[in-house]
Amino acid sequence: MSDRFSLRDKTIVLTGAGGFFGRYFTKAFLDEGAKVILIDISMDGIEKYLEGYEGRYRLFLVDLYDRKMARDCYEQIISTSRVDVLINNAFDFGKKTGFNTHDGRLENATYEQLLASFESGSYWAIQATQALGFAMKEQGSGSVINISSMYAISVPPPHLYEGTDRFNPPGYSMAKAGLLQFTKYAASFLSPEVRVNAISPGAIPNLEKKTDNSISTDDPVLQKLSRKILLQRMGHPRDLVGGLIYLASDASSYVTGQNIVIDGGFTIT
Ligand SMILES: NC(=O)c1ccc[n+]([C@@H]2O[C@H](COP(=O)([O-])OP(=O)(O)OC[C@H]3O[C@@H](n4cnc5c(N)ncnc54)[C@H](O)[C@@H]3O)[C@@H](O)[C@H]2O)c1
Repeated sequence: MSDRFSLRDKTIVLTGAGGFFGRYFTKAFLDEGAKVILIDISMDGIEKYLEGYEGRYRLFLVDLYDRKMARDCYEQIISTSRVDVLINNAFDFGKKTGFNTHDGRLENATYEQLLASFESGSYWAIQATQALGFAMKEQGSGSVINISSMYAISVPPPHLYEGTDRFNPPGYSMAKAGLLQFTKYAASFLSPEVRVNAISPGAIPNLEKKTDNSISTDDPVLQKLSRKILLQRMGHPRDLVGGLIYLASDASSYVTGQNIVIDGGFTIT
């Protein structure tokens, strides 16, 4: 890869590092020569992605709902390391944010679920940017990348979920759309030293590990979703890596406040 795309010796802070996307992102950054600082409430299963990279990663087990714990973590990072890139990727796909539970449907969604969606989908990125984004501004350079969603731009049609217990609650779309607007706001206030951009992934189902948001290939929701994807396949976290490397590296040095939609064409139809 040409020097403009190089991540060699850059230090990347990644939230949600123990999750489906996070594990692939971590491996890709390490392969590209970066050092990584990984944050998640759980790191179960990440070991195999870190094998052979000893000395190039640090792990922080943090519950991001705990604002003090998160602040202490960011302060510790700033006081012990330079940070070049912040990737806000964590999200709580559990019942607390109203996923796949009858209580989370539009007619039932509670104030608490909507607040948790805001915290998880917008505020976690805001708090991390307040700490690490401004540290990068002081240091004179940096890049923040917010992981939003196709559902910040489009919305799920109700027929998608007919006959299943699955669904994607209103707070998710609201919080991820808010994150896109925050991306522009932060790009304005952190300029010119720090660039702030977003990536909005499409349908990238977790077919690997049983979690709250994992799904099987024959799930009817997935079958219906796939009919709308122009490139005629579901995405994989590896499909996001090119965009991430672009936004994290000097290759995108004149790009800020933007959103790159990586969804196989889902949102244009
Ligand atoms: N998978 C998709 O199809 C898809 C599509 C569009 C956008 N996204 C976005 O991509 C990002 C990653 O999604 P994913 O599919 O890897 O999900 P995931 O659930 O596998 O990963 C999310 C990670 O966030 C962590 N997390 C949850 N609550 C936390 C807390 N309280 N404190 C700290 N960490 C916490 C989880 O432990 C998990 O490792 C999310 O922001 C999601 O909204 C995913």
